[in-house]
Amino acid sequence: MCGVVGYIGSKQAAPILIDGLKRLEYRGYDSAGIAVVCGGKIVSDKEVGRLVNLEKLLEANPLEGVCGIGHTRWATHGVPSRANSHPHFSSDGTISVVHNGIIENYSELRDELMAQGHTFLSETDTEVIPHLIEQALADGAMSPAEALRLTLKKLRGAYALGVLFRDEPQSVYCARLGSPLIIGLGENENFIASDVPAIINRISRAIYLNDGEMAVLKADGVEVCTIDGQPVVPEVKEITFEAEAAEHSGFETFMLKEIHEQPRILRALLTKHVSAEGTIQPPAGLSENYFRKLNRIMIVSCGTAYHAGMYGKLLIENLTGIAVETDLASEFRYRDPKIDPGTLIIPVSQSGETADTLASIRMAKEWGCKIFAICNVEGSSVVRESDSVFFTDCGPEIGVASTKAYTAQQMAFALLALCIATARGDLTPEQLKSYLDDLQEIPDAVHYVIQQKDDIRKIGEKHHDGPSSLYIGRRFNYPTALEGALKNKEISYQHAEGYAAGEMKHGPIALINESLPVICICTKTADEVYEKMLSNVKEVEARSGRIIAVATEGDTELCKLSDDVIYVPEVRDEFSPMVNVAALQLLAYYAARARGTDIDKPRNLAKSVTVE
Ligand code: G6P
Repeated sequence: MCGVVGYIGSKQAAPILIDGLKRLEYRGYDSAGIAVVCGGKIVSDKEVGRLVNLEKLLEANPLEGVCGIGHTRWATHGVPSRANSHPHFSSDGTISVVHNGIIENYSELRDELMAQGHTFLSETDTEVIPHLIEQALADGAMSPAEALRLTLKKLRGAYALGVLFRDEPQSVYCARLGSPLIIGLGENENFIASDVPAIINRISRAIYLNDGEMAVLKADGVEVCTIDGQPVVPEVKEITFEAEAAEHSGFETFMLKEIHEQPRILRALLTKHVSAEGTIQPPAGLSENYFRKLNRIMIVSCGTAYHAGMYGKLLIENLTGIAVETDLASEFRYRDPKIDPGTLIIPVSQSGETADTLASIRMAKEWGCKIFAICNVEGSSVVRESDSVFFTDCGPEIGVASTKAYTAQQMAFALLALCIATARGDLTPEQLKSYLDDLQEIPDAVHYVIQQKDDIRKIGEKHHDGPSSLYIGRRFNYPTALEGALKNKEISYQHAEGYAAGEMKHGPIALINESLPVICICTKTADEVYEKMLSNVKEVEARSGRIIAVATEGDTELCKLSDDVIYVPEVRDEFSPMVNVAALQLLAYYAARARGTDIDKPRNLAKSVTVE
């Protein structure tokens, strides 16, 4: 949830750290700090609030030095304050640490250290780390590396760490367990970062540190070992996306840029996965034979990815004879789902680092299940821990509210469902062709919706006030209703509920009055639920609700009932959620803009939830 950066080279570290933190600010943004080794000591600055506050401090009082670490925080232990901001220090100020993750046993460690005379200045779990290192050195550890190793062995929980030692001014140490950390490799300079976008403008090669590994970076080299001291020969990966992928590129926000990227991403996924002959290969590690024998799938995920999972369930169930369940990873890990080893587990995650999703994977592996992940981030924990992966290939998603990753996850499920159905003989080649022809229309249909953004903006601006809104949909578009409501509450802070329209009579209908916007996803094709949705819309109308309909072009019914209509192109029902959600993303976007919120960094949220 927090962002970590580090630099060692011949350039001034502070501007590089600040630039990296800016690119990481989406991970956490309640306070920030940096530390640099300079003139025989470690100097540091920290500030509460957005990074710009720290930048102002540094402008007035620059920190000089070529070796440093930085941190942007999303508070878990202790309120956002200067004292709680990272970096944290040892008592004598010679060791400085930045940390992402949670040290679960910090309280007992802190008591032990206090008994040994250590004084703590913050309420954080992190502060025990520099004190433990200091104590290890005092107890006779021979080197900083050894002291760090001894410290890591005492920690329970998760960490991505950057560590500076005053007495080793040419080194940055780092370690990883359960929280992502990469080492960026430059020419006579090296970096650490919790995420590639932090340093994408500076490197093209990186090492993804594994859990239980630590490293020491010098300007001219990197040494990796396990926390038991065993040397590791790291795998160096080429970074495949361009620096531009992590820039605004002329858009007012990352979220708006990412909404606009969707048609291109969906098209690229189709090109990559559908052959010229109109076939879809099973993902690496899975085979047609495996799909033929499969009888149960369990999809686990959180947030927006959970809604993608709900869509995936509906689609796979609809196209194949396989029983599919979906669950929130935070619930799944604490229930007793009676999973047998033959069940295919599908974790869905943009970041690949969500703590609950990872915990679910680990449980399922213990049960002997195969794990097929849908994920966006190469080298992430979900990717490493899965047997097989479908990459959503979106490039970095920076806006905290997920958009392009969602539609790409939906596309992944569409391709997977068609692949499984064909392998099992549930679809004939002709039927597959018909589905694929319709799927190929989706990128253009999404593009068409995005082109309507000025009309959608007016609707968003008109209905943005008021305390609440209700989103309703059915069948394939029930998850769309949930996702539309989630987008709205995440970025506009307006309370929003998504409901299965058929459930309206069982509660939410009591909310309806002339001031409640009810967003009705009622796209019309041959879908059997269209008539049912229409009845639900009429129920809202009869109670003077404010109706905003998402309707298919050419629909003549809904405009009679609705205050406003967003028209979308007619596509196959099964694939309509990818198109309809684009309208809801824009609706939420413009409502949030009218409400003046910080769209890319909504309050209290973090892009990557690496704690439970
Ligand atoms: C956070 C993000 C959401 C995301 C969810 C799951 O809450 O703000 O946008 O949907 O985590 O994240 P994942 O990376 O696993 O998809």
